[in-house]
Amino acid sequence: MLITFEGIDGAGKSTQITRLVNHIMSQGVDVLSLREPGGTEAAEKIRTILLDNSHKISPIGELLLFSASRAELVQDVIKPALREGRTVILDRFFDSTTAYQGYGRGIDLELLQSIISFSTCGLIPDITFYLAIEPEEALKRKFAKSSIPLKFEGDELDRMERSGIDFYRNVQKGYQEIMRLNPERFVSINALESITVIHHHITKILRERLPS
Ligand SMILES: Nc1ncnc2c1ncn2[C@@H]1O[C@H](COP(=O)(O)OP(=O)(O)OP(=O)(O)O)[C@@H](O)[C@H]1O
Ligand SMILES: [Mg+2]
Repeated sequence: MLITFEGIDGAGKSTQITRLVNHIMSQGVDVLSLREPGGTEAAEKIRTILLDNSHKISPIGELLLFSASRAELVQDVIKPALREGRTVILDRFFDSTTAYQGYGRGIDLELLQSIISFSTCGLIPDITFYLAIEPEEALKRKFAKSSIPLKFEGDELDRMERSGIDFYRNVQKGYQEIMRLNPERFVSINALESITVIHHHITKILRERLPS
């Protein structure tokens, strides 16, 4: 079974994945938890290129590098694990590419779709949890732990902060459109609930949808 988590930065994906992995393992079920880019020797090298600040990468170059890393992970790790009947949990998958590079950065959606299908060999998650939150709230959370004082209230936003918010709004709209087109796969969850309430909601849905 392939379970993915989606949502804008700071929505709480990693927090919920940690809780869910612990929960599944406590039931004695084997689970593999992964995040992109990386996860194979070649994919880790691609990750190094993607994270290296010393060079510039164009949006298309970035998309293809992410896709190359994803292709390695799907073929070498995810598909073999699924064939063995293991549960695989992904912190973001191709929906992030559609939301961020497509709706966020404006790369042609049809082109994106063919690159996604090609790089995943058509692999689609069994269930995708979308943690729904307003960009302002998510960014507040992300910066809550840093010492950078950031204001996200209305008129107090400067130009840069506004463009950041606008970008995340487009990503959020993108996710909403992706969910509208894939209602059978997506479960939207109010990310403003407490960590524990969300965790119980997720495990309840998994029990209902996937009884084994
Ligand atoms: N339900 C919640 N209520 C309040 N705070 C939360 C909740 N879930 C997560 N947080 C906090 O919000 C911050 C961001 O959470 P987390 O790192 O899990 O988000 P993320 O979606 O994985 O972000 P990113 O996309 O940047 O990796 C963390 O400090 C986390 O403790
Ligand atoms: Mg995270």
